[in-house]
Amino acid sequence: MNKTTLVALGALLGFSAFAQNSPDAGLMADAEAIESKVIEWRRDIHEHPELSNREFETAKKIAAHLKSLGIEVQTGVAHTGVVGILKGDNPGKVVALRADIDALPVTERNDLPFKSEVKEQFLGQETGVMHACGHDTHTAIMMGVAELLAKHKDKIHGTVKFVFQPAEEGPPPGEEGGAKLMIKEGVLKKPDVDAIFGLHINSGTPVNTIRYKAGGIMASVERFVVNVEGKQTHGSQPWGGIDPILISAKIIDGFQTIISRNAPLTEGAAVITVGKITSGVRFNIIPESAEMIGTVRTLDPQMRDLIIKRMNEVAEKVADAYGGRASIEWQNNTVVTFNDEELTAQMLPTLQGIAGEENVNLTKPTTGGEDFSYFQEEVPGFFYFLGGMTPGNKEPFPHHTPDFMIDEDGMLLGIKTMSQLAVDYLNAQ
Ligand code: NI
Repeated sequence: MNKTTLVALGALLGFSAFAQNSPDAGLMADAEAIESKVIEWRRDIHEHPELSNREFETAKKIAAHLKSLGIEVQTGVAHTGVVGILKGDNPGKVVALRADIDALPVTERNDLPFKSEVKEQFLGQETGVMHACGHDTHTAIMMGVAELLAKHKDKIHGTVKFVFQPAEEGPPPGEEGGAKLMIKEGVLKKPDVDAIFGLHINSGTPVNTIRYKAGGIMASVERFVVNVEGKQTHGSQPWGGIDPILISAKIIDGFQTIISRNAPLTEGAAVITVGKITSGVRFNIIPESAEMIGTVRTLDPQMRDLIIKRMNEVAEKVADAYGGRASIEWQNNTVVTFNDEELTAQMLPTLQGIAGEENVNLTKPTTGGEDFSYFQEEVPGFFYFLGGMTPGNKEPFPHHTPDFMIDEDGMLLGIKTMSQLAVDYLNAQ
């Protein structure tokens, strides 16, 4: 069956067979027209990077741009976040588009005309500051998308909320921040968001390609501290005390059986790592307590809950069996970046229509974390990886390193897909 027959058949049956995968020609042409401007913004942001919760100048640039487009702007959301609200000419649902805006304490080694020379104090140490994860490209892409959608608001059925989010890399110790704080401050309310989209540029994915996956695409990241209490005694008379070091060994053993005996491993991978143990002062004293610090990574929200529950039980009950006490303090850094299955299936034709089916590839999940995941806990969300690697580059530098480099040619596909995703999502309602 050819395309014309299908469309005719679709019209006959009351559905539009290609409504979602033919990109809007006007939107795509305008995306190309603003590409060089977006690249200039990116270079400016790259040269002036700011650490998490300190994105003051970046936020000013974003807010000024949105205002110049006639978009309603909220500033100071979750400290330095900027939210833009664009009402389309037609009524409908609300879609949020999110870009993270913070940089990292990394000293840039690239030789670029817009290389960062910025230095800051971070945790009492002087360090360079660099957009070493590509959030500069996300910010610039989203500024471009805002410009496009503001111009084409006659095509929008509903409202687009632009969420420029600070502190994706995590706020400094003792501060709140990031997606979690934005949600707490009501970013998904008034108007209430129905779905959210986000992207991450990737230095190891070729330009003009996209990687995606339904379900868990990035890991949940937990940090845990196990406190084990025993009873101090002479090392020669262990029966007089309770040994927290022995209890720690049994707890670690118990933790690893959670992965091998409780976790449904066909659902996805999971990791428990104890990375540090502290206890004791000398060879002939059984100490009073022990502390273990570690991390848990999962790719499935239910498995995450199960592992946390089982670890609490194992620590408590194992310690109890040996006459001691143990408890775990949890710190959650991200939950599973979980792409809603239905939303992913619905939006895939939009990506394929723009990039070409052969350039939109299924990906394996990664064990890294992303705080976009918190938005996805509240509303259905879709997060994808955008190619930022010069084709043929065999050894791209990883994210978070001084040599990290993005091929700017990859940004255009980000502008096109993000704006078309918003239009198609709202028009399908
Ligand atoms: Ni990142």
